Amino acid sequence: MLILGIETSCDETAAAVVEETGDGDRPWAIRSNVIASQIPIHREWGGVVPELASRQHIRDICGVVEHALQDARATWSDLGALAVTQGPGLVGSLLVGVAFAKASAAAAGLPLVAVHHLAGHIESLVLQNGELPLPAVVLVVSGGHTSLYLVPQAGRYERLSRTRDDAAGEAYDKVAKLLGLGYPGGPVIDRLARGGNDRAVALPTPRLTHADRNAPALKGDLDFSFSGLKTAVLRYVRKKGTGVFLPDDPGPHGPPGRAQKDSRPLFTESEIADICASFQRVVVTTLIDRLFDAARRYQAKSIGIAGGVSANSRLRAELQAHGLLREMPTFLPSAALSTDNAAMIAAAGLRKLRAGSIAPAGLNADAALPL
Ligand code: KG4
Ligand code: ZN
Repeated sequence: MLILGIETSCDETAAAVVEETGDGDRPWAIRSNVIASQIPIHREWGGVVPELASRQHIRDICGVVEHALQDARATWSDLGALAVTQGPGLVGSLLVGVAFAKASAAAAGLPLVAVHHLAGHIESLVLQNGELPLPAVVLVVSGGHTSLYLVPQAGRYERLSRTRDDAAGEAYDKVAKLLGLGYPGGPVIDRLARGGNDRAVALPTPRLTHADRNAPALKGDLDFSFSGLKTAVLRYVRKKGTGVFLPDDPGPHGPPGRAQKDSRPLFTESEIADICASFQRVVVTTLIDRLFDAARRYQAKSIGIAGGVSANSRLRAELQAHGLLREMPTFLPSAALSTDNAAMIAAAGLRKLRAGSIAPAGLNADAALPL
């Protein structure tokens, strides 16, 4: 069976066709995966502007879906179901996908499945690697979320922790902005950090408790917090920086944002690389430590990281290194399946469809949908 997935929760309009393989270990295969990114539109403003995002989704959705069907060499009559992201996300953006999916499902006479965006990120691991050894502990780390989930059995997700303030991706984006590196910040910091000294700038490691590893677990001690780290970078930059920094390397996404030209601090390229590397070391160490703590506590048989920040090269390398060291199987999505996409929504939709979950005709978007 083929399912069409639709994802419009933030600033990517995405559609994908995923096929059920009949193989229990590798249940799904991607037939097409199309993404219309709005990054160039939002970069001008230094972040996602919700109203611009929803308007652009309306412009793009029909073409993106057509393209996904064409790439899959499929027509509407070849589909067995539709899946759409119901939430969480920007409500105006979500509404475009949900309205489009409801109308198409009704017109084509197909069942519609409502998918939680983070369930999609978790299932991207299965789409990429096949079924994980369970129980698994999965870190979902993106621009909007930094949460740990226990997956005790396929299709069940139990939240173990979350961020108390900024998400890790949000911290990347904010630090990049204050360094004048443009939007989104994660890929730029990732790239610049490779040339930096990760011990050059002393930054605090976010710690919520000082729980003894042998003591009983404290409620919330697997939670994350990144706003203090972001503020520490800001303070360092204010203290050291003077004048204007104008990077001459435009980076992978074109020229840097033009905002705040005069307020940019003066740092050499190598100092910027040091700040990026030091910031990234603290973020990655924090994520990996909590993840492996949770895995130990819940006797996980495997570990995964999903979401936009799982594209980070240092996070990927450290996950693999720690997994090898502790003889723990570890899993990641491909770079294309790390950031927002509709293939993961289609996969999570197939999981729910097989569990008998079909959306009601009155389905509505839910910006704060819990998982
Ligand atoms: O999952 P995603 O595409 O959208 C949300 O659901 O939020 O994640 C986007 C986030 C952004 O904050 C972006 O800066 C971050 O993922 N990101 C990265 C990298 N690539 C994207 N963060 C660190 N390193 C990267 N290579
Ligand atoms: Zn996401």
